[in-house]
Amino acid sequence: MRDVLVLNGPNLARLGSREPEVYGTATLADLTEACAEAGRQLSLRVEVRQTDDEAELLGWVHEAADGRVPVVLNPAAFTHYSYALRDALAMRTAPLVEVHLTNPAAREAFRHTSVVAGVADGTVAGFGLLSYVLALRAVASMLEGSAEA
Ligand code: DQA
Repeated sequence: MRDVLVLNGPNLARLGSREPEVYGTATLADLTEACAEAGRQLSLRVEVRQTDDEAELLGWVHEAADGRVPVVLNPAAFTHYSYALRDALAMRTAPLVEVHLTNPAAREAFRHTSVVAGVADGTVAGFGLLSYVLALRAVASMLEGSAEA
């Protein structure tokens, strides 16, 4: 059974009370449970983490690279401007799927740029918690195609 890290960036611990008209009413605990359930179905050992701290997130990305651990990442606002995060992700050694609850392409202009997308295998956006489930399915499918699966 392979480990997968589901990493979440700033303000995502506020889900449930954060702009519910934009992000819905599901909490980070709900997100964690949805990922755990998807992991059980896909035979993946899923660990969900969240931080508001860019340095902590970079440390987790380095840890994943060192351990050859696939990552599902919602970089939140870091998506749009963190070249440090992009550079860290470029060192990855396993699948990487970018996820968003909302569809940034349909929102404010500053959200239309992702500095992360170019170093990811793909992006799932716009489906709320289902974005994470679909991203985990994509990771499972990529792992099936690899010798280490
Ligand atoms: C987000 C979209 C980002 O633009 C925003 O800064 C977030 C959440 C999403 O999941 O829809 O914090 O990544």
